[in-house]
Amino acid sequence: MKRYYLLTCLLLLTRALAAHAGGPPTYSEHIAPILQKQCQTCHRQGEVAPFALEDYSDAKAWATEIATYTQAGVMPPWKPAPGHGQFKNERRLTDTEIQMIADWEKAGAPPGDLNAVPPAPKFTDSWKLGTPDWMVEMPVEYEIEPEGEDEYRHFIISTHFNTDMYVQSVDVQPGNRKTVHHVIAYLDVNGEARKLDAQDEKPGYVTEGTGPGFDSIGTLGGWAPGVTPSVLPEGVGYLLPKGADIVMQVHYYRTGHLERDRSRLGLYFSKTAETAKLHITSAINDKFELPAGAARYEVVASRKIKTDAYLLATMPHMHLLGRDMRLSATTPTGEKRDLIWIQDWDFNWQDIYHYREPLFLPAGTEVSLVAHFDNSAANPVNPHNPPIPVGWGEKTTDEMCIGFLYYVKASEFSP
Ligand code: HEC
Repeated sequence: MKRYYLLTCLLLLTRALAAHAGGPPTYSEHIAPILQKQCQTCHRQGEVAPFALEDYSDAKAWATEIATYTQAGVMPPWKPAPGHGQFKNERRLTDTEIQMIADWEKAGAPPGDLNAVPPAPKFTDSWKLGTPDWMVEMPVEYEIEPEGEDEYRHFIISTHFNTDMYVQSVDVQPGNRKTVHHVIAYLDVNGEARKLDAQDEKPGYVTEGTGPGFDSIGTLGGWAPGVTPSVLPEGVGYLLPKGADIVMQVHYYRTGHLERDRSRLGLYFSKTAETAKLHITSAINDKFELPAGAARYEVVASRKIKTDAYLLATMPHMHLLGRDMRLSATTPTGEKRDLIWIQDWDFNWQDIYHYREPLFLPAGTEVSLVAHFDNSAANPVNPHNPPIPVGWGEKTTDEMCIGFLYYVKASEFSP
């Protein structure tokens, strides 16, 4: 009897091992860790994604879509094409992970041992980079009416530092993720935003377009869904000039309900004795007109880099009709470097892309931009029906074509 029991045990054990090695992937062992790491930043209660992927029943309910969207490369959302620049904070599944999800779904989404699911990651609303050196909230809690067009509202935050400061990183924490679409922290050194603020009773001011309504000397970065705060290399900082105002632009969606938001901003200052200033330039074309109906209209631009420089980050920017943008650099000796390629532009997924390693661009390097726009009636996001000619402008329904380049001078910084 005892021997028989032992044999059965052995048999069961062998079977379990065989299943482990050759059987289909299970939720508990294979899928949960992927969802925890790559999806739950957005797919959890109160976050931007339309549904949660926090437990087995969520995952099972969405198994087919999860497999389809990951195989199509649509989820997790990450716009830069592979092989054209290597970026920090990339959101990309490995081929093995994609295959594992596909196999799991094909096998009927088996749970595995649900008691063995790894503990859920802790998402806190606290600061991801630790306590900021300087933290500031929007001056008031702002109320967003239920209906109407999206609103670009600007809140002015005075800084009272009595010297120029260098900021190594900025972390923006949206107050109410249901209504906050993105936040950009602009800098104002001429008090222009304060004048705009004085124009109406409400806190801050609105612009009709996507810009801050004045000539900003630059930004400190911002926040958009899924964006994790990027830290500049040690020894590099955004210059926050003495006495400057930070103008927090918040793009609000309407949700059909009255919403309240009080977003906040944390600054981390450079701690090095000398800090190199981060410069922002761009390859830009503001003289184009997209003919009505043109399905693939090309717009180009270029920018010559005048001094030896390290490129740290780039940000392509277009509005609704943009379809793709490619930035590349050609050095004076004819060497070509791919900087970034967004093949499937989406106005709702914009980001500043920070390179894993600073990219050396010798003086005289030409950065060129090639973009395409779809101003045809077949473009589902075309705001004009029938299409009309569209040119440069601040409104979301106008267009832009900019490749922002964030760099430091090589004379001031070396990696
Ligand atoms: C950066 C935020 C973010 C991350 C990370 C993310 N998603 Fe999403 N997901 C969204 C948003 C937002 C939507 C809604 C559609 C849209 O806006 O693109 C969405 C939609 C989806 C849909 C489409 C549902 C439908 O039928 O409309 C699926 C499936 C999905 N996500 C699966 C995943 C999986 C699986 C992962 C991880 C491998 C993931 N997502 C990672 C934000 C994210």
